[in-house]
Amino acid sequence: MNDKPVVIGVAGGTGSGKTSVTRSIIQRFADKTILMVEQDYYYKDQSHLPLEERLKTNYDHPLAFDNDLLIEHLKDLIQQKSVSKPVYDYKMHTRSDETIHIEPKEVIIVEGILVLEDDRLRDLMDIKVFVDTDADVRIIRRMLRDINERGRTLDSVIEQYTTVVRPMHLQFVEPTKRYADLIIPEGGQNHVAIDLMATKIQTVLFEKGQKLSKENS
Ligand code: ADP
Ligand code: C5P
Repeated sequence: MNDKPVVIGVAGGTGSGKTSVTRSIIQRFADKTILMVEQDYYYKDQSHLPLEERLKTNYDHPLAFDNDLLIEHLKDLIQQKSVSKPVYDYKMHTRSDETIHIEPKEVIIVEGILVLEDDRLRDLMDIKVFVDTDADVRIIRRMLRDINERGRTLDSVIEQYTTVVRPMHLQFVEPTKRYADLIIPEGGQNHVAIDLMATKIQTVLFEKGQKLSKENS
């Protein structure tokens, strides 16, 4: 790889299907083409706080994220350097002790509820996407996922959604739709939109290849 990676931001509300869309796009390419960077893994480290304090944190506010570290890592990846990505533990509400060593790839998809909220992140992106799914669908998906995978109770999901997630979505997440180049309705099962994204990525990679071979000839 001799050229700057293409950076794609995928934003959208909780449960909108950001991860599913990103995984579906990645599956259409060879293993070494696309790297997924999850903004959730860059929640601020809260290991110094007791669990009861971590439970009270507003995880839907822009200040919950360590965007400085995320930006530093994205810049390193863009400069073709590997990074040690933090790992987030939703059950413990903090970063885990381990990190994952990741190598840059030709395409980097940075995915998360607020990746379009920070102008420094937007400035690093070549393509900006917002996955737009109705709130009733998102809350149902979130209930199932948080109970089955993130160690939550039905009551806790409902309480967190009504008091924090919904108001923060309206205040911070939804307004970032205006920055999107492409709005994908309904997320994971929208095969037309996923195919279009894959085609766009192929075109960008092809154009990059053409440019490089001209420069080298
Ligand atoms: P996000 O990353 O935006 O929070 P996910 O892609 O993780 O959304 O989806 C949230 C949950 O909903 C996951 O458990 C996922 O398996 C499920 N899900 C996503 N898309 C669909 C879909 N089209 N139909 C049914 N379930 C879905
Ligand atoms: O995958 P998804 O986009 O749903 O992840 C973002 C959501 O994770 C946020 O809406 C936030 O409320 C939730 N979250 C949580 N507990 C944490 C960290 C994040 O419920 N410890």
